Amino acid sequence: MNTAFHPGAIWPDNKGVHINAHGGGVLAHQGTYYWFGEHKVAGEAGNKAEVGVHCYSSIDLYNWSDEGIALAVSDDPKSDITRGSILERPKVIYNELTATFVMWFHLELKDQGYRAARAGVAISKSPAGPYTYLESFRPNAGIWPVNVREDQKHIPAGIGDKSFSGATNDEVKKTNILGRDFTGGQMARDMNLFVDDDGTAYHMFASEENSTMHISELTKDYRKPAGRYVRVFEHRWMEAPALFKRNGRYYMIASDCTGWAPNAARSMSAASIFGPWTELGNPCSGVNPENGMGPEKTFGGQSTCVLQLPGRDAYIAMFDIWRPKDAIDGRYVWLPIEFTSDGFRITWRDSWDMAAFTI
Ligand code: DGJ
Repeated sequence: MNTAFHPGAIWPDNKGVHINAHGGGVLAHQGTYYWFGEHKVAGEAGNKAEVGVHCYSSIDLYNWSDEGIALAVSDDPKSDITRGSILERPKVIYNELTATFVMWFHLELKDQGYRAARAGVAISKSPAGPYTYLESFRPNAGIWPVNVREDQKHIPAGIGDKSFSGATNDEVKKTNILGRDFTGGQMARDMNLFVDDDGTAYHMFASEENSTMHISELTKDYRKPAGRYVRVFEHRWMEAPALFKRNGRYYMIASDCTGWAPNAARSMSAASIFGPWTELGNPCSGVNPENGMGPEKTFGGQSTCVLQLPGRDAYIAMFDIWRPKDAIDGRYVWLPIEFTSDGFRITWRDSWDMAAFTI
């Protein structure tokens, strides 16, 4: 029995096996927590989807039972989610209207690198699955964001599907990537979901070649974009968004874009989910003694989600320490969020427990 969190350590499940749910998200449903994440195999092969989305359940968040593969990759080479595609950052939310669990994830089609930049959707009637894959797409085809500028409302000639990976920000700023992707839909890479108090759900994702994030409202059944979205953090190159809400205010943690290598975390807040958002700076402090990394490298990790304990003023920030050379050995860093007068802080702890929230 675990009675504490040990950030960065091997985290055995009920079978004694290190939890395999990377880039994950946690759903609280009827007194049980469900942790969904990328199942990674050993070696560099683990950077692609060889198995699918793994699910674990827990009552106390310290001890997790293996619930198996919630969404399996397909053996059909024609399927979008065929084995060897890239399936990242799965998140699950519960749709009350249809009594269905809805999973969204970042999908890259097999053998296309990170070019496809699609959102995938799967559903299930039970939290741990199995989930049925529905479709993948680039969101919001043919729709301008609510804060589009007049000078963006055109489809630029001549840039085709040019990749801007490694391009300077100056070069990107001169290019209307939003307009380029208007017809086919907007790129959707690192992502998260958020259900607001009124039941409206949102999909937030790194778009426009990762240069700008989009926050996109979902339909009432949570299965598609509703067609209303906003561009935020223009040309700030953010990945790994994790959104949460406290006392009516929205907060987000995100990272810079440096592949699997860690960088400094960012934090931001807004009175309305569609913004304007204000950047608050790096929320982290302290050092992970295992790798010597502090706030400049987010303890060696990258944000993946924030869990609010149901009905409590208690929030846990979750990060992945990626191990791209041996993906299965990736580690999890869960830390409590402390709120300040102007934002929040996340301080390294070698170990901690829920008592952190009562003091
Ligand atoms: C950083 C992202 O946050 C990860 O989910 C993954 O896409 C890697 N980049 C791939 O390099």
